[in-house]
This record gives sequence, structure tokens and C-alpha cells, in this order.
Amino acid sequence: MTPDRWEEVDRYLEAALVTETPALTLAREAAARKGLPDHQVAANQGALLMMLAGTIAARRILEVGTLGGYSTLWLARALPHDGAIDTLEVDSERAAFAREIFAEAGASRSIAVHEGDARETLTRFQTAGREKYDFVFIDADKPSNPHYLEAALALSHPGSLIVVDNVVRDGKVADAASDDANVKGVREMFEMIRRDPRLEATALQTVGSKGWDGFALMRVVA
Ligand code: SAH
Ligand code: DHB
Ligand code: MG
Repeated sequence: MTPDRWEEVDRYLEAALVTETPALTLAREAAARKGLPDHQVAANQGALLMMLAGTIAARRILEVGTLGGYSTLWLARALPHDGAIDTLEVDSERAAFAREIFAEAGASRSIAVHEGDARETLTRFQTAGREKYDFVFIDADKPSNPHYLEAALALSHPGSLIVVDNVVRDGKVADAASDDANVKGVREMFEMIRRDPRLEATALQTVGSKGWDGFALMRVVA
């Protein structure tokens, strides 16, 4: 198997099973036109996020790393009428773009974009004693993953689900000697997970239109 075939199979699976809403298609196409990096989740991965959030009937969702709002809109599809998503983005142009996308999707009422360094935003959320989240998607700067996991735990409750993107990165995660800050961020986070009795966890490799990568999945059990 080669990346070309992975891409082809993703196209097939998406055509067979996965339907973007018009808002999702618009978000993806507008982001490409704007020249945003192609770092959003694939459609079939977005559908997985939607299903995971839907399965636990998530009403409050926290996302770290908005980009153009593509994964946010997938998660929003799982939201009940009184549900809410807080999504965190450091880049002001991206935050503004995502807000426009959410407005066009008619989703501004349920999605709040918090512009600024997520580390600071998350600290503020914790200090403010914000209502806990049912589902957390961590998908921002990878060196901060340990910090984001700690914050996610402080802001979640037993039963919450935490998903982290990009934990495999072409297999680099298995290199204990790596001095890549992204790899170190993921490995340090895994070490935290392993030691934390509050967490049940696994991680899965994925191949497809996003190359060879993977997700970590955690359930808060205590
Ligand atoms: N979740 C998106 C993709 C996010 S890409 C999707 O799948 O559609 C990662 C995003 O995290 C980028 O837009 C980047 O600007 C943002 N980011 C990087 N460092 C950050 C930080 N310290 N705080 C908040 N956002 C950050
Ligand atoms: C990158 C970040 C992501 O969140 C992603 O899904 C793919 C790539 C990156 O920073 O390269
Ligand atoms: Mg990602």
C-alpha cells in the first residue's frame, strides 16, 4: 500500500458513507481558497468525531485548535439544541475566518471561538470554574499536548471523552530518541496518560488522505 492508494480508498469510503453538510463543504472549500494549511481532519475522521460525541450525547464540547472550523462543524452535528462548543485558536485571522464560517452555517449561537493562546484561555476557564465538558478534542500545537491534557482533565468529568489528533506522525512517535518537539509533546502526554488512574486510553494509527497518523482516545473514569 502507498499513500496514493490510501488517498484513493479515503475518496471511496467518503463517497460511499460520509456526507458533508453544505456548511462543511463550504468550510473546506473556503479554507482552501483562503490558503489555510490543509491540516483539518479528513471527512471520514470528522464523521468519527461526530459519532464519538453523539454516542456519549455530548452537550458541551471543547476544541483546542480551530483552524478554519472544519472539525468544529463536524462536532457541531452531534450537538443537541442546547449544546455548546468552545473552540480555541491563537491566530486572529483564522479565528475571524472561522467565525464567518460559523455565521454562514447558522451555528454562531452554539459555537464560541476564543481567540488567543489556548494555554491562557484554558487557565482562564479553570479559574472561572467553567461548567465541565463532555467531549474534548485536542488538535493544536503538539508540544503543548501535555499541558492541554492536564487542562482537559481539569475541565472534564467522569464519563468525558478526550480525543487527541496527530499522535503518530509517520511513525515518529515510536522513536524514544527523537528530539522533534512535536514527538516529545506526544510522548510526554502518553507518559502522563499511562500514569494517570483517572484515564482509560488507547491510540490508533490511521492512513488515508492525511497520510500516516493517528488518534489517542481517552475516557475519564474517575
Ligand atoms: N481542528 C482543526 C485543525 C486545527 S490545526 C480541524 O481539524 O479542522 C491546528 C490549529 O491550532 C491551527 O490553526 C493553529 O493556529 C492553532 N494553534 C497552534 N498553537 C495554538 C495555541 N497555542 N493556542 C491556540 N491555538 C493554537
Ligand atoms: C499539522 C497539524 C495538525 O493538527 C494536523 O492535523 C496536521 C498537520 C501540522 O502542524 O503540521
Ligand atoms: Mg490535527
